[in-house]
Amino acid sequence: MRTNKSSLLLGCVLLCSASLLYLGMNGTECPPKSHRYRWMELNLGLANQSLSLTDNFPEDAPLIFIGGFPRSGTTLMRVMLDAHSAVRCGEETRVIPRLLAMRATWSRSVKERIRLDEAGVTDQVLDSAVRAFLLEVIIGHGEPAPRLCNKDPFALKSLSYLARIFPKAKFVLMLRDGRAAVHSMISRKVTISGFDLNSYRDCLTKWSSAVETMFSQCQAAGMKRCMPVHYEKLVLHPEEEMRKLLHFLDLQWDTSVLHHEDLIGKAGGVSLSKVERSTDQVMKPVNTEALSKWVGNIPPDVMNDMAEIAPMLARLGYNPHANPPDYTRPEPKVSPFNYSQSVKATETQHPS
Ligand code: A3P
Repeated sequence: MRTNKSSLLLGCVLLCSASLLYLGMNGTECPPKSHRYRWMELNLGLANQSLSLTDNFPEDAPLIFIGGFPRSGTTLMRVMLDAHSAVRCGEETRVIPRLLAMRATWSRSVKERIRLDEAGVTDQVLDSAVRAFLLEVIIGHGEPAPRLCNKDPFALKSLSYLARIFPKAKFVLMLRDGRAAVHSMISRKVTISGFDLNSYRDCLTKWSSAVETMFSQCQAAGMKRCMPVHYEKLVLHPEEEMRKLLHFLDLQWDTSVLHHEDLIGKAGGVSLSKVERSTDQVMKPVNTEALSKWVGNIPPDVMNDMAEIAPMLARLGYNPHANPPDYTRPEPKVSPFNYSQSVKATETQHPS
């Protein structure tokens, strides 16, 4: 009799626990509002529909991609844009340039292309998968905003591809004197795969080639889609440069972009990563401290061969023989979109 009572009690306890667990689990079916959900509420009024986010974020969304060689002021540019009330860039995602690099290899080999086509994995299928991945990451990793932006420096090695899969996207290519970018990377031990941090010669050669890859794609995209911004001009004349940039991006002028430091950690402001290399520097207001830190740190034999080691210096308007160049000097009055014109102007400006 006593055993029967205990069994009944145990049964009741188990039943109650199961019911509570069931109710509890049902409760978790209503997750807190994600950034994606809030983006939909803000921009589309579709928050109640259970469609995939990328169905609602059309491929012709006017995304902004910021990139360039690391240590060229890419983080500064993104925090300045993050300070704009209509823009959210956020921290580096790191996975976007990796996926883009992978995508570039998929169709490279003819044999592999045939295999993929045979399997129905056409370029169109791959592009739409890559587009969906990028959108999910860009939308999902931060606050919603009317204009979303991404900053992953080497993503712009795939600028032409991005311009094709996002026909309304715009690109901001950060450019900096390669001697400064390489000195920053070597002195701060910022590793980039394939770069020998023990050799200025190696790093400058590879800087030139990486920048060439991005700059030529920027030129090919044209001035309506891609705007090169020189780091030196940005820190020397922030208002002038940001006014030009916002106009290019079809954004209204917002003085907040000149005071990004006031918006760090604020809602709708600037969110910083604890582990990114430039975080300690972008916490400060825009300053010119870093312009000539490289002077006196590059071995003389490398300095002598600078024009040959890093041909992109002259092409971008930096005198390869000046130590340091006068960064306040106005650039040649030609469009960076006309290569032969810009080379000629640089040659006239820096005759050998
Ligand atoms: P140095 O390391 O030469 O100082 P990136 O973010 O693309 O890696 O670029 C880093 C460079 O941007 C750093 O160069 C840093 O000084 C510069 N930078 C970051 N915040 C800045 C600020 N508030 N004003 C001026 N330059 C800044």
